[in-house]
Parts: sequence; structure tokens; C-alpha cells
Amino acid sequence: MVIHTQKKSLVQALSFANKIDKIGFVPTMGALHAGHISLVKRALSENEIVVVSIFVNPTQFNNSADLQKYPRTPDADISLLKDLNEEIIVFLPEVSDLYEDTVAAKKYHFGNIEKEMEGKHRKGHFDGVGTIVNKLFRIVKPDAAYFGEKDYQQLQIVKKLVALEKLHTKIIGCPILREENGLAMSSRNKRLSTKQFEEAATIYKTLNEVRDKFGSTSITDLNHLVAERFLQNPDLKLEYFEIANEKTLKTAKRKNKATKYRAFIAAFAGEVRLIDNMPLN
Ligand code: PAF
Repeated sequence: MVIHTQKKSLVQALSFANKIDKIGFVPTMGALHAGHISLVKRALSENEIVVVSIFVNPTQFNNSADLQKYPRTPDADISLLKDLNEEIIVFLPEVSDLYEDTVAAKKYHFGNIEKEMEGKHRKGHFDGVGTIVNKLFRIVKPDAAYFGEKDYQQLQIVKKLVALEKLHTKIIGCPILREENGLAMSSRNKRLSTKQFEEAATIYKTLNEVRDKFGSTSITDLNHLVAERFLQNPDLKLEYFEIANEKTLKTAKRKNKATKYRAFIAAFAGEVRLIDNMPLN
């Protein structure tokens, strides 16, 4: 397995590749879990060359404690990838290699979807995501890039980014993988205590309940129901619950038959912020 720690050497290695070989790319922040591995497997099945980047991107964190505490397990990540396929190319750059002198995000306008949900609660987050994904795409020049639907808003943002930056990469959204108790897999789950891990299953249970009742219950009542479920669970603090239009991500107040909706939750288990979502119709 080849590990590149500098963009220059990765660019050089990829320039030797056969021009007809398709490059699949899985950008990650490391602390890899089965969800990431499912993205890598899909990339392996659809491309001749697969690049996985491991880089905790400072400009997408609006909270320095969260950045500091973000799990970093590069050795375990590399051995997971090596066990999966020796031919995966790993990109493990330093902040200075990608950002050079200025660790700052470019300002993006993604057509207002950046202003909803995560955008409201994590100021500047999507500018940071857009900045790093643009940098990585310009280095790797992937034909296809794979993103999990757990970060559904991020997935829509990256699709807009590709259009804005006139990149040629196809963006592929992949299903959420879940723990046995239903909790969406996330690198942040590594920071949960056993009790918090168990309690966090409430997020998935609540989303299921919302989906089951969506046809027969008003959005106002569903909002109340979710608030109630979280009040019953003192170990979890609801940051937001939204039913939103799946395309525009605008909060839905009333249902419209022709529109596709998704439910979104962000909640804290202690200091650990968890997000999840589910299609409703
Ligand atoms: O989803 C993530 O892990 C990150 O936001 C990404 C896409 C790797 C950019 O840093």
C-alpha cells in the first residue's frame, strides 16, 4: 500500500496512471469505521484506482475543543485499508501542505442550502467543507467521489460545489450504515461512553417513529412529539429536529403531496454531537 503525505508526490504518482483508468475517491477525516469501509468498497467496485484521504480539516470546525478531541487513529485506519485492498492509495497530508500559509476557508454561496440546519448551528462549517473538498478534488482529480448520506446536507453541498467550481467529478451518495442499536455510524461514536452509546439509539428510534407517523400526523405535532421524546431522555440534548424538503433543505411547515421530505436530527450526548436523517415519503 502506498501512503502519500505530500500532495506533490500524490499528483506525480497519479500522473503515471493509465489515462483510461477511472479514479474513485473517498475523502475522510479518519477514525475509519464500517460506514467508511462501505464507501471504499463501492469505490473499489466501480474504479480502477482508489484514493482515500485522511485529513482532519481545521477550517470546518467552528469549535476548537471539537477539533482537538476529534478522534485520530491513523495507524488503525491504514491497517483497515491495507486489509481491505493493498492497492488503495492513501493520502495523509499535513495542514501546512494543503493550506500553505493561510489556514482559512473560502466563502461560498451554495444557493442557500448552506444556511439551513448545520449551517445555522455550525457557522462557517460548509465554507470549510467546500474549501477542503475543492482542494482535494483538484489534487486527486477523481472521476467519482463517495459520500455517506449521514451527512446529507454535506452531500448536497458537495454536489453544488462541483457545479460552482466546474469540476468533472461525479458525486455518489451512499446509504447510512448503523450500529446494532440503530445509531448511525460516525467517527464521533468512539467518544461515547457505553451508557451514552445506548441512549443515543433514541435518535434512530425517534426518526423511525416520525417516518411511521408522517402520513397521518401534522408536522407541528411531529415537532412536539420529537421534543417530548428527547425530554424523556436526560442523557441526550436535542439541538434541532427538522422536517425539510429533500431538495431545497428548507424547513417544512406543511406537507405537500408532490414534495419529498426528510427528517433531520442533531443532538448532544454529553459533549459529543451526533447527527442523523431519514427519508419520510
Ligand atoms: O465527511 C467528512 O468526513 C468531511 O466533512 C470531509 C468530506 C472528509 C471533508 O473534510
